[in-house]
Amino acid sequence: MAAQAKKRVLSGITATGRLHIGNYIGAISQWVDNQAVYENLLFVADLHALTIPQAVAGQDLRARVEEIFALYLACGIDPEQSTLFVQSDIVEHAELGWIMTCTTPVSWLERMTQFKTKGKIADVDTGVGAGLLCYPALQAADILLYDPDLVPVGEDQKQHVEITRDIAKRFNTLFGDTFKIPDVVIRQAGGRIMGLDDPTAKMSKSTAERAPGHAIGLLDPLDKARKSIMRAVTDSNSGVDFATELAPGVTNLLTIFECFTGTSRDQSAARFDGAGYGKLKSDVADAVIGRLTEIQQRYREITDDRDQLNKLLTQGAERARSIAGPKLAQAYRATGLRS
Ligand code: ADP
Ligand code: TRP
Repeated sequence: MAAQAKKRVLSGITATGRLHIGNYIGAISQWVDNQAVYENLLFVADLHALTIPQAVAGQDLRARVEEIFALYLACGIDPEQSTLFVQSDIVEHAELGWIMTCTTPVSWLERMTQFKTKGKIADVDTGVGAGLLCYPALQAADILLYDPDLVPVGEDQKQHVEITRDIAKRFNTLFGDTFKIPDVVIRQAGGRIMGLDDPTAKMSKSTAERAPGHAIGLLDPLDKARKSIMRAVTDSNSGVDFATELAPGVTNLLTIFECFTGTSRDQSAARFDGAGYGKLKSDVADAVIGRLTEIQQRYREITDDRDQLNKLLTQGAERARSIAGPKLAQAYRATGLRS
């Protein structure tokens, strides 16, 4: 019997800030866990970063992009098994992005939660760029260029994968069958890690920039990381009581512990039921810091070898281009732009 082709996975992270443990748990760790099983295409979304004004910082942005690329490797993405690249290195993303912008009804874009929230936060006096509205059309292009089967992301990105499916179906109906309809994959636990300072808000890069105790950055000094965990908001009880409803901050700490140690909820219940919050937090801190120590050590080694990093950036881009190029040509033919 012929060997079955590996399923193809595509995902990326926007280069708008420093990566945190939410990005690691929700996205990167899923990619690492499955990289031997699937064919992975993973990228840094730098064009998407331009939708947030403060991310436009000239050379800083490229430095941020390379930091994220190196962090993918440091977290365990193996460039032999996965194709890693930077979005703007593959011009096909912007080209198909335009076609997708023209395929997507404005009303679909206006309904997106991210547009509604980020549009409100952005400085309206200086004008929100149209890119913030068109963001999902570019994301659809990122995905559809590679015909992936699966898109593993955190929960907040679910809506963007759903609109991608709708855009692909619309394109296929208008211009003929061209794009595969991908499925979204979200971790059962850990798809939405909450802020340590406010367990009702998603841990996010932008909040982390203004609230020091909010997130744990993958490159944070280890003592700062420990302090933020020890100060995490719980509730006014003194310890963990599984017989009562756990406060959101306690559940969040348990989820982080379980994701970093590969423990089930039953196992952590056996370990923490009746324990004080001090013990819970200190165990969470040990688990997180153990992993951060490994990641940071690998990160230093990777960024010390610039030649190797540049080689991987070039190799990944070539491989991505070899898939994206023919797909874009197919879309050009379908729309009638080429015969
Ligand atoms: P942020 O919101 O911090 O800027 P992104 O939107 O760039 O992060 O997300 C990058 C990836 O990490 C996406 O797959 C996203 O769903 C996931 N992710 C982001 N924040 C979290 C979180 N708090 N918990 C789980 N996954 C997350
Ligand atoms: N919007 C995603 C984020 O904020 C990044 C992203 C861009 C993405 N294009 C994608 C994720 C395609 C998955 C697939 O992190």
